[in-house]
Amino acid sequence: MSSTKYRAVRVSQADGVVSAALVDIALDELDAGEVVIATRHASVNYKDALAVTGRGRIMTRMPCIAGIDAVGLVESSTDPRFSPGDAVCVHGHGLGVGHDGGFAERVRVPADWVMPLPPGLSLLEAGTIGVAGFTAALAIHLLEHNGLTPQAGPVLVNGATGGCGSIGIDMLARRGYHVVALTSKADAADWLRALGAAEVLLAGEVEMGTRPLERARFAGALDSVGGAQLSWLTRSMREDGVIGAFGNAGGIELATSVFPFILRGVRLIGVNSNASASVRREVWARVAGDLRPACLDRIGFPIRLDEVIDSCQRSIAGAVRGRAVVHFG
Ligand SMILES: NC(=O)c1ccc[n+]([C@@H]2O[C@H](COP(=O)([O-])OP(=O)(O)OC[C@H]3O[C@@H](n4cnc5c(N)ncnc54)[C@H](OP(=O)(O)O)[C@@H]3O)[C@@H](O)[C@H]2O)c1
Repeated sequence: MSSTKYRAVRVSQADGVVSAALVDIALDELDAGEVVIATRHASVNYKDALAVTGRGRIMTRMPCIAGIDAVGLVESSTDPRFSPGDAVCVHGHGLGVGHDGGFAERVRVPADWVMPLPPGLSLLEAGTIGVAGFTAALAIHLLEHNGLTPQAGPVLVNGATGGCGSIGIDMLARRGYHVVALTSKADAADWLRALGAAEVLLAGEVEMGTRPLERARFAGALDSVGGAQLSWLTRSMREDGVIGAFGNAGGIELATSVFPFILRGVRLIGVNSNASASVRREVWARVAGDLRPACLDRIGFPIRLDEVIDSCQRSIAGAVRGRAVVHFG
């Protein structure tokens, strides 16, 4: 048994209080799996922020190492599909929620969870994209399967400065969409335009109204926020408009009526990043191909593992712009 210890951010619960701490852990103490990955990058997602701060009931088991995505190099594998040095990523399947996750210098997971990086995508690019970028890509993939094209009209991205939002803007703009960014941050307009937003709306200044149908403006939408803003979106879509809903950063409620759906043919499509293996492969291939982001160096900013807990607190407060990406040594 090796005595080498690895640093990790572990979430625990004692007397009903959830807390997170940087700990040293041996490989044997990690959850079981055939593949050991030397982690190079893991990004801070909203779900991580909920887990690490205890603001959401995210963990299905505690103690558990947080981090819902990880990118790195295979260190060892008892499964013949993987060899030392392979560049891989892993997310979903309960990583960072019920199985020790990516905020650790080593990740040990079942081989079936491990995905080779698509050719042409660097470790840092994949680490910056992470679950958020994958989710934005999956949403765009689903919207396009439902008929969305750049010619159909403007696409609104809600929660624009967040991880899903910012990468979504970048991807959509690169595909030729007219992107309208909706943000709560008054000082983010130039940054959002640099990512590809053609228009920037400030949430506090948009008259969202209360009518069952508002002015028909958008052909498509990506929604990170939920709540009142998603309600407004359903009422503001053009005929046959499609919304990809994946977030709840602004609330879990959705008050609307059936009118957008039965009078305008609006489609509200749920997006769950915990997709099947074949969908993952297809969407990651698109991320490395026709959905490839161009502005990841503007979207991602490096943090150390010992800054993760602080970064999660900032994320919960909605104060982060882009993606905090852990760089492991
Ligand atoms: N369904 C899935 O499989 C899936 C996968 C990934 C993420 N998600 C969800 O998608 C959402 C975005 O995830 P993310 O990782 O991109 O999060 P993030 O980086 O923390 O970004 C969230 C963004 O939402 C906006 N926001 C609006 N109201 C907010 C509020 N009250 N508190 C905090 N943020 C608020 C902010 O952008 P502005 O200031 O620009 O408005 C914020 O930057 C989260 O709800 C997350 O749980 C779901």
